[in-house]
Amino acid sequence: MFTGLLHAHSGLRYVVLIAGIAALTWALFGLVTKRPYGRPMRILGAAYAGLLHLQVVLGLVLLVVGATRTEVWIHMAIMLCAAVVAQLPASILKRRPVEERTFGIHAGGILLSLVLIWLALMPFGIGLFGSNAFAP
Ligand code: HEM
Repeated sequence: MFTGLLHAHSGLRYVVLIAGIAALTWALFGLVTKRPYGRPMRILGAAYAGLLHLQVVLGLVLLVVGATRTEVWIHMAIMLCAAVVAQLPASILKRRPVEERTFGIHAGGILLSLVLIWLALMPFGIGLFGSNAFAP
């Protein structure tokens, strides 16, 4: 059971990263071209934050099912920060009038959360795209 969940947790990470990179690219494109802020940014940002939260739930299940590595606590603490930071842009912008919503806050939030994800994988000795789960 643990191994199956670990593979799912490890695999879902790629979906999270693709969603994060897509949302970041759109935010930077919006910033550079100064196009009006709109629905695509909201959807991409929400997709990234939602998938990251799903990954957090899967990680917590893994923890309950029987994680043994002590590094997992550092991993968890930083990943929880990453999930909060990924959600912040939407939460902040929701309170602003439509004409004051900007791409910059999305770009900053997504970039910071991706850096936090990268840092949170370091205790396992793997990079953003690395893995221990599939080692023989
Ligand atoms: C509260 C949040 C999280 C918890 C509690 C958690 C928990 C865990 C646990 C228990 C492991 C297995 C460690 C072991 O080998 O014993 C693990 C591994 C891993 N986690 Fe998380 N995790 C969380 C969030 C995330 C997030 C958000 C991502 C990526 C976006 C992520 C990516 C990974 C990866 C890539 C591994 C290593 C898989 C491998 O060995 O190939 N985790 N995590």
